[in-house]
Amino acid sequence: MTVEFVIKGGRVIDASGESFADVVVRDGEIVGVGPDLSAARTIDAAGCVVAPGLVDLHTHLREPGKEEAETVESGSRAAALGGYTAVLAMPNTTPAIDCASVVRDVQELGRRAACDVEVAGAITVGRAGEQLSPMGEMADLGVRIFTDDGTGVQDIRLMRRALEYAKGLGVTLAQHCEVSELSAGTCMHEGAVSSRLGMPGQPAEAEELMVMRDIALARMTGARMHFLHLSTAGSVAMVAGAKAAGLPVTCEAAPHHFTLTDECVESFDAVFKVHPPLRTAGDVDAVRAGLVSGSIDAIATDHAPHPAHEKERPFDEAPPGMLGLEYALALALTELGMDIADVLALLSWRPAAIAGIADTHGAIAVGRPANLCVIDPNHDWTIDGSGGASRSSNVPYVGRTVRGKVRHTIHRGAPTVLDYELQK
Ligand code: DOR
Repeated sequence: MTVEFVIKGGRVIDASGESFADVVVRDGEIVGVGPDLSAARTIDAAGCVVAPGLVDLHTHLREPGKEEAETVESGSRAAALGGYTAVLAMPNTTPAIDCASVVRDVQELGRRAACDVEVAGAITVGRAGEQLSPMGEMADLGVRIFTDDGTGVQDIRLMRRALEYAKGLGVTLAQHCEVSELSAGTCMHEGAVSSRLGMPGQPAEAEELMVMRDIALARMTGARMHFLHLSTAGSVAMVAGAKAAGLPVTCEAAPHHFTLTDECVESFDAVFKVHPPLRTAGDVDAVRAGLVSGSIDAIATDHAPHPAHEKERPFDEAPPGMLGLEYALALALTELGMDIADVLALLSWRPAAIAGIADTHGAIAVGRPANLCVIDPNHDWTIDGSGGASRSSNVPYVGRTVRGKVRHTIHRGAPTVLDYELQK
């Protein structure tokens, strides 16, 4: 049976520009984009922006091993509510996604999910930083990004070898930049606030030394490097410099690093504990400026669910991480002062290109899979602490009023969200 509908009355925006147009979807594919189109069923988009589905480069889905916190199913539903049609699942699961069999398991779970689930593989076996993982067998299954996220690869020689293999395989290595000699035993940013609170802090240099090192390794090997969740002014400046020098590097920033500062930790609420830590107002300004200028390629959520009983532990003992999938778009629209088209570049087509899925995501054109989201840019709402579709509720933005909400999400031609409600 043919399934056909038209998304009607919206402002269509993608990398090629914008126009007021209707979008007809038939059997999973975009079959028409233009004025005054009709179909058996109409999905209203009056007053809304019709955009390519969002793509998250940094999602912790916690499966296998930590299903209490999140599953592929629950995380993908949170993603759909946030406007995402694809997420990159991080490999710091239990066991780690470090070989073909675990990749296959997560891909299988992803086939039933509410968005595409791309899988990132670990760089080292068990993410232990000692021995290279079998990247080739994972690349054969379609893995395009490798990372030990949650921790950075500390051994310089091993990282060099990993980059050499990655270059041969045509894949990207993504680094969590944190030098363990400066970060071990710390739980927040080192600065005036940590001194006042008497908490062990990690300096900005814990991140910046690894950014500096890996820029050098990218130069040396010619391999593609992606820098995860950059949080300091120095890191943003170094990556901008590496790009200006023509190196094949990209980077992302997380919503919490452009909206929250280390002063939040004064509450001693572990909902504000995250790695890398919340930094100073100056760092937040630099991350914002990097997003505006394009030196930062993408906004990536680092959606990191943790069960309430773990986040309720004392600050220094609680696990790091915060939810992001349902809030990233609204926070970006509200806080960055950018045109919506530029925000969409950061959330959709640029991350789609980095993830290697630009053939299926990031554009609205006839013949392409219908991965779309429809945003009401004037919808004001207040973030509550429920965590939405996630199994966890570690939301650091509770009580904040934001502008812009995802009204509909279409994943491969199937509505996953209609009029703000999950369909799947
Ligand atoms: O805060 C974080 N939480 N940072 C990471 O890099 C890992 C993540 C997690 O898995 O909880």
